[in-house]
Amino acid sequence: MTDASDRPRLRSQAWFDNPDEPGMTALYLERYLNYGLTESELRSGRPIIGIAQTGSELAPCNRHHVELAQRVKDGIRDAGGVPMEFPIHPIQETGKRPTAALDRNLAYLSLVEVLHGYPMDGVVLTTGCDKTTPACLMGAATVDLPAIVLSGGPMLDGQFAGRRVGSGSVIWEARRLYAAGEIDYERFMQMAAASAPSAGHCNTMGTALSMNSVAEGLGMSLPGCASIPAPYRERGQMAYRTGRRAVELVLEDIRPSAILTREAFENAIRLCSAIGGSTNVPVHLIAIARHMGVPLDIEDWQTLGYEIPLLVNCQPAGEHLGEGFHRAGGVPAVLHELLGQGLLHGEALTVNGRTLADNCRQAGSGDRDVIRPFDEPLIHNAGFLVMSGNLFDSALMKTSAISRHFRDAYLSRPGAEGIFEGRAIVFEGPEDYHARINDPALGIDEDCVLFIRNCGPVGYPGSAEVVNMQPPDALIRKGVKELPCIGDGRQSGTSGSPSILNASPEAVRGSGLAVLRTGDPVRIDLNTRRVEVCLDADEYQQRLAAWEPPALTDQTPWQQLYRANVGQLAQGACLEPAVAFVRIDQTRGLP
Ligand code: FES
Ligand code: MG
Repeated sequence: MTDASDRPRLRSQAWFDNPDEPGMTALYLERYLNYGLTESELRSGRPIIGIAQTGSELAPCNRHHVELAQRVKDGIRDAGGVPMEFPIHPIQETGKRPTAALDRNLAYLSLVEVLHGYPMDGVVLTTGCDKTTPACLMGAATVDLPAIVLSGGPMLDGQFAGRRVGSGSVIWEARRLYAAGEIDYERFMQMAAASAPSAGHCNTMGTALSMNSVAEGLGMSLPGCASIPAPYRERGQMAYRTGRRAVELVLEDIRPSAILTREAFENAIRLCSAIGGSTNVPVHLIAIARHMGVPLDIEDWQTLGYEIPLLVNCQPAGEHLGEGFHRAGGVPAVLHELLGQGLLHGEALTVNGRTLADNCRQAGSGDRDVIRPFDEPLIHNAGFLVMSGNLFDSALMKTSAISRHFRDAYLSRPGAEGIFEGRAIVFEGPEDYHARINDPALGIDEDCVLFIRNCGPVGYPGSAEVVNMQPPDALIRKGVKELPCIGDGRQSGTSGSPSILNASPEAVRGSGLAVLRTGDPVRIDLNTRRVEVCLDADEYQQRLAAWEPPALTDQTPWQQLYRANVGQLAQGACLEPAVAFVRIDQTRGLP
């Protein structure tokens, strides 16, 4: 480490070592000394590194970070920095009502305020559960302070009755078996609990593992960070190295804006397709890009991501889970395959100061069943189809997760490949769906398309993971396990449902989805990427003209603020006024 006197002044010195304002300096110093820090630590020009702590007993997926932070602090200390851990608003995917998505922007907003307003020179972002990763990256992007991601890592692989069971994914399977009367409630709960055998986030390639992999692909974590299971020794070692590197990032003045470039986002889109990433990734990645001031839109997923093959054999699109993914080489091994095909911007800078190509050039797959060679993929064209039509401007379909059964039964009929025509069954939200799905009066059969609306960012609020709707129990007992589902909500990244989701604009903003009625004929064409309600044009226009927005009830002050300011899923569901604040901390030294 260089002598502190040779270096430019650190941002934190504006608080702790400011000769122009001795009174304020004393005021800042005295309270940070009162738990045992010494004046020399705070005044010697050592980088002060925040540790943005997302773990708590309310946030079990990230709980492990409470212990990992000790190893981060060891690393920061050994590299000559001073750690300061602080809490982030908890975002537990499975714990927050009405939905955790509501809190991503709240955690973002408070992180921006903390990073901007406190004496920090850099920050370690502790990530894991779904929305914690984007919230942290969005905040770091806006403030543009040197930042590095430390994932908490996935849980160990779940085992039940001699086979792997993945978090989330097994719940969808178990509820289908329970609905069909094939298992009782006790076994249903045993299956669910078996899928969460240790500390860590979901072990499937759901939103958490997808987003942490994408954070690594963006260059924001050290290579190999995303896939290390939470209880493995390497996780603590990664925490230590991440802490050390955070100090160096400050000394080298490497900021998110040097890493989160358009090229990095293009790399991330391709990586997302190759891993079979969650349909939530586009929402979050677009939000991070917008807060970084980088243009990225939903059509980029079609043009850059759709034709990328599925290389990672993990649930829900494949068989394995986090441990297998890690042993096979994790993210660097997938990037290695893409790099070999010229599909990455290899020159993109990453947080270790090296390029993406440098980091993954030697990183071949250690298990070719789990991470496939590029020319032996699980599925070709594994990205998202970006759909449009007269019901919405855009929506996503993750074709890689569609079951073979559904493909064979519906999408491979001679003369009508990729086309599904059926009758709309419309639900006004998850409560309405649960109340009526088994109502025989709806007459739901295999020629129906299930719709759910009022579940977008404004409607729910936050946007609910509800589009993966199960057919009525009677139909499941007849062997119809899936029906096409369409909605303005999202769905869990752990689900393999044939859904068209994230429809934007949402129904409560007056899209065509708002005027759809049960019984309307609907046509889905995957070839032209269109979804249409086949109505007479006059009738359709009359319905739109007669539509009135529903009254929405806010349960909390934040819900009201959120609804008033949030954008649509296709634009990242950002707080729109916040997007104007790009790189607010460009200057290192305050006065
Ligand atoms: Fe937290 Fe899946 S519920 S990672
Ligand atoms: Mg989720």
